[in-house]
Amino acid sequence: MKKGKIILKIIISVAIIGPLALAFFAGQRPTAYHPVPLLKSTCPPGFKLNDNNECIARNLYSQYAMTNKAGVGGLKSALPKIRDGFSPQEIDLGRYLFFDPVLSLDKTVSCATCHDPNKGFGDGLTTSRGKNGQRLKRAAPSLYNAGYLKKLFWDGRASTLEEQMLEPLFSKEEMGNTLENLLHTINEIENYRKLFAEAFPERNRDQPIALNEITKAISAFQSSLISLNSKYDQYAHGYEEALNKNEIEGLNVFRSFVARCAECHTPPLFTNQQFAVIGSPEPEGLPLDPGAEIPFKDKSLRGAFKVPSLRNIAQTAPYMHSGRFETLRETVQFYTDGRGHAVPDGENLLIHWHIWEPNLTDYELDRLVDFLKTLTDESFKPQVPRALPSGLDISI
Ligand code: HEC
Ligand code: HEC
Repeated sequence: MKKGKIILKIIISVAIIGPLALAFFAGQRPTAYHPVPLLKSTCPPGFKLNDNNECIARNLYSQYAMTNKAGVGGLKSALPKIRDGFSPQEIDLGRYLFFDPVLSLDKTVSCATCHDPNKGFGDGLTTSRGKNGQRLKRAAPSLYNAGYLKKLFWDGRASTLEEQMLEPLFSKEEMGNTLENLLHTINEIENYRKLFAEAFPERNRDQPIALNEITKAISAFQSSLISLNSKYDQYAHGYEEALNKNEIEGLNVFRSFVARCAECHTPPLFTNQQFAVIGSPEPEGLPLDPGAEIPFKDKSLRGAFKVPSLRNIAQTAPYMHSGRFETLRETVQFYTDGRGHAVPDGENLLIHWHIWEPNLTDYELDRLVDFLKTLTDESFKPQVPRALPSGLDISI
């Protein structure tokens, strides 16, 4: 009897201590093999799977036929075309890659370092910090609804998500990688070889993972980041109680001919996707940022930036390309402080005709902020992976 009990105790101890010890030693190994689950075979919320294994965007805006023309504050209008049609597996593989610092040269920086889902896919900094804490010249934009954008970066220098991401991947200040090292590293990781084979089943399994597969998967994931179910959206679709009296007043200031916000931040995306010179101040101590003048080689675009979407704006302080404004209240105040008041001496910028002197009262500015806060929606926020295929830690 006694002997049996001792044996039982030993068995129980081994059963408990064994896995703990294993986990401990596994934790010590830098390139530990972490098995990852199979890729998801269902689409993220907001997308519906068709017969070709493609995720197609579905939302209440699909019911409206007309896109909004600038200057129309109409609520029931269609969205521009989104990049959709990716497979659930491509999207899910992109999710792992997006969070994985293995994409950077020193394996410390991932896309999510600067585009953190808990910060509206921004980083909460005035201007971003890259490898070794190097300070970049501009703030990190939110990635919500990026699949709808025709031009990317504050100055619009990229036209596709695939083209855009080559910069952070390979620029010395950001992830600092080289093409050769990136492909070598990814192809060395057994988990990734398995997952890429699953996401791209049509290709020969022995073929090495290629750059266009990496960029396609990350683009698929980014296109799935949807924010279209805010209090504002519920109101727009006809549920009038979704906004309170102050918020409706704010909406009305926003789309009024005095404030003119909706001319540029046109609903439902809250950007007309154009470039505008508004003359916002630069980061402390930095000279004028020429903005879209450089990529478009057009002097009239000196100091112009892409009109940013205002969705989830309450989560992505500080504001503007410069991160110069800490709060939404300061940001809306800028528009009423006088046309061109922050333009450096000696610069003669062609400020947009909708930037004028609306003389908004403190009351109206407060209501604008109330309204901007109704544009937050995190109901489709993706899950951060529990473990990464590379075995590295998630650094956000
Ligand atoms: C070191 C911080 C940092 C890292 C790492 C980083 N980004 Fe960014 N990202 C930025 C900044 C800053 C900008 C704006 C730069 C500009 O406009 O000149 C930006 C812009 C973007 C944009 C354009 C958004 C828009 O509205 O125009 C996309 C998309 C994007 N990043 C995706 C990614 C992806 C994908 C990765 C990983 C491969 C990545 N970023 C890594 C800081 C970062
Ligand atoms: C002429 C077009 C135009 C008009 C009109 C306009 N904006 Fe903007 N808005 C922009 C541009 C361009 C930026 C980015 C400028 C920059 O980064 O320097 C911007 C930036 C912002 C931002 C910060 C976004 C971010 O991601 O950091 C907020 C908030 C904002 N605008 C709100 C408003 C409000 C409220 C109004 C009306 C009072 C308004 N805008 C009117 C073009 C416009």
